[in-house]
Amino acid sequence: MSLMISWCFCLFFFILLQACQIARGVVYNITTLEPLFPNQTLVSSGQIFELGFFKPNGSENHFVGIWYKNFTPSKIVWVANRNLPLMYRDWSAKLTIGGDGNLKLMDGRGNIVWSTNASGQSNYTSAALLDSGNFVLQDANYSEIWGSFDDPTDTLLPSMKMGVNARTGEKYYLSSWRSDSDPSLGSFLSEITSETPPQPFTWNHSTPYWRGGQWDKSKFIGIQNMDQSYSSMMNVQQDIQQGTTYFSIVPYNSPFFGYMFVSPQGYLKVMYWDDGAKAWFTDWTGPNNTCEIYGTCGPFGVCNSMNLPICRCLNGFVPMSNEEWNSGNWTGGCVRETELNCQKNTSTSASTILKKDAFWQMSQMKLPDSADYLSDIGDQEGCLSRCLSNCSCLAYSYVNTIGCMVWTKEDLIDLEEFSTAGADLFVRVAHVKTGGSPQKAVIISLSTVAGIMFFAVFVFGVCKWRTKKEGNFRIILRLLGWVDKPERLGELLQGNSWEEQLKQDDALELTLFSFDSILLATNKFSMTNKLGQGGFGSVYKGKMNDGREVAVKRLSSSSAQGVQEFKNEIILISKLQHRNLVKLIGCCTEGDEKLLVYEYLPNKSLDTFLFDSGKKVELDWGKRFKIIEGIARGLLYLHRDSCLRVIHRDLKVSNILLDEKMNPKISDFGLARMFEGTQVLVNTHKIVGTLGYMSPEYAMGGIFSERSDVYSFGVLLLEIVSGKKNTAMYDQGYLNLLSYVWQLWSEGKALDLMDEAIAVSFPLEVIRCIHVGLLCVQDHAMDRPNMMNVVLMLSGESDLPQPRQPIFTFQTEMPNHGIPSQKESLWSVNTVTNTMVEGR
Ligand SMILES: *[C@@H]1O[C@H](CO)[C@@H](O)[C@H](O)[C@H]1NC(C)=O
Ligand SMILES: *[C@@H]1O[C@H](CO)[C@@H](O)[C@H](O)[C@H]1NC(C)=O
Ligand SMILES: *[C@@H]1O[C@H](CO)[C@@H](O)[C@H](O)[C@H]1NC(C)=O
Ligand SMILES: *[C@@H]1O[C@H](CO)[C@@H](O)[C@H](O)[C@H]1NC(C)=O
Ligand SMILES: *[C@@H]1O[C@H](CO)[C@@H](O)[C@H](O)[C@H]1NC(C)=O
Ligand SMILES: *[C@@H]1O[C@H](CO)[C@@H](O)[C@H](O)[C@H]1NC(C)=O
Ligand SMILES: *[C@@H]1O[C@H](CO)[C@@H](O)[C@H](O)[C@H]1NC(C)=O
Ligand SMILES: *[C@@H]1O[C@H](CO)[C@@H](O)[C@H](O)[C@H]1NC(C)=O
Ligand SMILES: *[C@@H]1O[C@H](CO)[C@@H](O)[C@H](O)[C@H]1NC(C)=O
Ligand SMILES: *[C@@H]1O[C@H](CO)[C@@H](O)[C@H](O)[C@H]1NC(C)=O
Ligand SMILES: *[C@@H]1O[C@H](CO)[C@@H](O)[C@H](O)[C@H]1NC(C)=O
Repeated sequence: MSLMISWCFCLFFFILLQACQIARGVVYNITTLEPLFPNQTLVSSGQIFELGFFKPNGSENHFVGIWYKNFTPSKIVWVANRNLPLMYRDWSAKLTIGGDGNLKLMDGRGNIVWSTNASGQSNYTSAALLDSGNFVLQDANYSEIWGSFDDPTDTLLPSMKMGVNARTGEKYYLSSWRSDSDPSLGSFLSEITSETPPQPFTWNHSTPYWRGGQWDKSKFIGIQNMDQSYSSMMNVQQDIQQGTTYFSIVPYNSPFFGYMFVSPQGYLKVMYWDDGAKAWFTDWTGPNNTCEIYGTCGPFGVCNSMNLPICRCLNGFVPMSNEEWNSGNWTGGCVRETELNCQKNTSTSASTILKKDAFWQMSQMKLPDSADYLSDIGDQEGCLSRCLSNCSCLAYSYVNTIGCMVWTKEDLIDLEEFSTAGADLFVRVAHVKTGGSPQKAVIISLSTVAGIMFFAVFVFGVCKWRTKKEGNFRIILRLLGWVDKPERLGELLQGNSWEEQLKQDDALELTLFSFDSILLATNKFSMTNKLGQGGFGSVYKGKMNDGREVAVKRLSSSSAQGVQEFKNEIILISKLQHRNLVKLIGCCTEGDEKLLVYEYLPNKSLDTFLFDSGKKVELDWGKRFKIIEGIARGLLYLHRDSCLRVIHRDLKVSNILLDEKMNPKISDFGLARMFEGTQVLVNTHKIVGTLGYMSPEYAMGGIFSERSDVYSFGVLLLEIVSGKKNTAMYDQGYLNLLSYVWQLWSEGKALDLMDEAIAVSFPLEVIRCIHVGLLCVQDHAMDRPNMMNVVLMLSGESDLPQPRQPIFTFQTEMPNHGIPSQKESLWSVNTVTNTMVEGR
């Protein structure tokens, strides 16, 4: 029986071998004297890519193309002669280098089917395929004079770039095949726009088909699932001075085999090879549903794939044509229900003076197309007032990492409402309707002096009477013409429903404190109660009525925006529970005050021990190692295990608190996320973080990912081992602690790093820690381990690769944080043959 099976197998393989013509000669370069024939393929030195003649499935035409050598089914990543195929069975076709030094593809009759047009008339050139997948024509000195990366077809490989150079006029974009069996130019074109902020676009001929939304320096706002993983492979580098905007794929592990391509059906996809499963997987697709197709709901329409029907008009707008709209043709969009106050003829009525337009806040939005970026505005209020002052401004949005965007040029189009991620959009409306979702109405108005004065009086009045005499308040609002239905007002202002929701949620032990009780507990925020000052506000020690000690963080925000979002965020953050995170007990929001109440940890923060010559002795190696492990676990929980996936962004010694047993607890987590979500942080163009802990890609490019936290963790770890501040090594002739550590490490004296105040008891453990620390602070984010690996490495359950020298610590110029260099030694070469690509 088994004999028969193996015999069948042999026969099967024999037939396969015959059918696929794998026995093609392999060459490593093309020269004037040695052309490439259809019975040969050109292979990259690391055996990763292969170039040769191929016949697409279902076609009789032949083309010259490049594909991944070892993965089947193979994907053709580049085609030379896409629009001029070779005849079937043209044995004497060849790819050669002509007398002028250019590559030429000749058919059997000697006609040139395709050629390069490199300018330098080089005397001696050769062509080779690189391991990046770039097919290059080189001069006698092996410098590139032309590369297939300059002329992409439908595929973007990890070392390629797509984009625009406005100075030189160079454009790199992807264009789809006509069909799966025909590589000639198809309908769809994908590109990155050169506007600020840049957006990815797919066009169906000249019609926009898909848009990824504005790049916020770490993700595209219009791609919902980019936010969830925090590990998107897409990256954009825009240099306004140079006029360049480039998009590239940055793999999150190496070696990485994958690509992005635009399919003949118009889908932009990111694919990767899973070596375990031996198959290609789709990492991401756009568009992925009807909502994501450009302008599905027309102008002033908003799409939500969770609703039925998916389209609705923006608040204050009605369908252009009810008949069309109700029949499911939404492309006509919506029109304004009442004209804006600013459009009205002011001379006709004096009573309209106070009746200014308002803005309707929409959260978690894919922002509309055609934004104007106002680079001179640095905060949300400025953005609001600029938009309010110009009647043609239809909406604005202020995103911390981008700045102020306004929409004036065209109708608002291609809006989508997400269930997570996205940004806040403020749409101009004539007045605020209280139907629908009242908590979303943001009443902002008044630009005249009279208005401002009135407003001040009014706010004062509200603060005093709000709880007791809500009737007065309602009347004022009605006088102002801001409210249609006074009955709903209580809900709008007090957020009762939210408090009820909080109380009902059994899983949460979150307490809502009154501001008075906090004042009492902290002795009116007295200086003697002050524990510290952080990036987001001051921390005070408090003692509640029941005698419980707490730490109160008073957020330094003067903005009245986003109370609802603040509350939602707290509900989310309170769900983060881990023994290495500081526990949130409750909160308080009253008026402009936003306070967070945490458990109080008597041993305060790690820096009070670590950098104090008297107290550092208390931290022996055992305690230090336990602290390092604890921080790693807490961070791993934030990054991976929790429901939220939080990047801390400001990990440092003073943010590590110690409980009575010296267990570390990370504090301030979630605040970065909260500030981003609610856009309360005003000083936004400033990079949030602490000098010395910021990874190079964040400090210099503003790019933040989990791996930036890993970098901060690395610095923290080395500080704990050495008992020295990263920034304190300058006097001793080092740029910082990292360069000192690297020097000791490379001289084989790593143990000298150990804090002199304590005895070395477990030298191997110490060295392993330093090793992990150095791995975490490598310049390229992709070279750093993730927190899972860090935890495994610390426990000795995982091998440690050699760290690379942190270049950033020695030179101040901008490191190249584009694509990590390919590491030849890591590629594992296996010679699986390729069945789709046929010879001849
Ligand atoms: C072409 O490849 C051969 C064999 O690998 C090598 O000897 C030769 O130097 C290469 N020529 C060029 C121009 O790279
Ligand atoms: C490939 O084809 C060319 C031209 O037809 C011929 O000169 C060469 O000998 C062939 N090589 C092999 C390995 O079959
Ligand atoms: C080629 O096409 C046939 C029929 O359309 C299909 O069954 C087969 O899976 C295709 N092969 C590849 C590699 O796509
Ligand atoms: C080749 O390049 C030159 C100048 O660089 C240009 O004038 C010419 O039209 C190009 N030819 C082709 C076939 O693209
Ligand atoms: C090219 O190089 C050859 C020898 O290497 C030389 O004889 C010939 O004159 C050169 N041609 C040109 C145009 O430089
Ligand atoms: C090759 O390099 C040499 C020395 O650097 C230089 O003189 C020569 O012009 C170069 N040749 C080409 C074709 O670039
Ligand atoms: C692309 O545009 C053509 C008309 O130019 C249209 O017929 C086709 O349906 C469009 N394709 C998609 C996927 O929308
Ligand atoms: C497509 O969207 C659905 C939700 O609408 C999501 O679950 C799925 O992962 C998405 N697929 C890709 C490839 O992005
Ligand atoms: C949908 O409506 C637009 C105009 O509002 C019209 O041009 C288009 O033909 C309609 N499409 C269908 C399928 O009826
Ligand atoms: C504004 O009012 C004046 C006088 O009442 C009238 O002449 C003018 O046409 C009005 N403008 C608009 C835009 O309605
Ligand atoms: C309002 O914005 C439009 C479009 O950007 C601009 O043309 C116009 O000059 C602005 N008007 C004022 C008064 O700023």
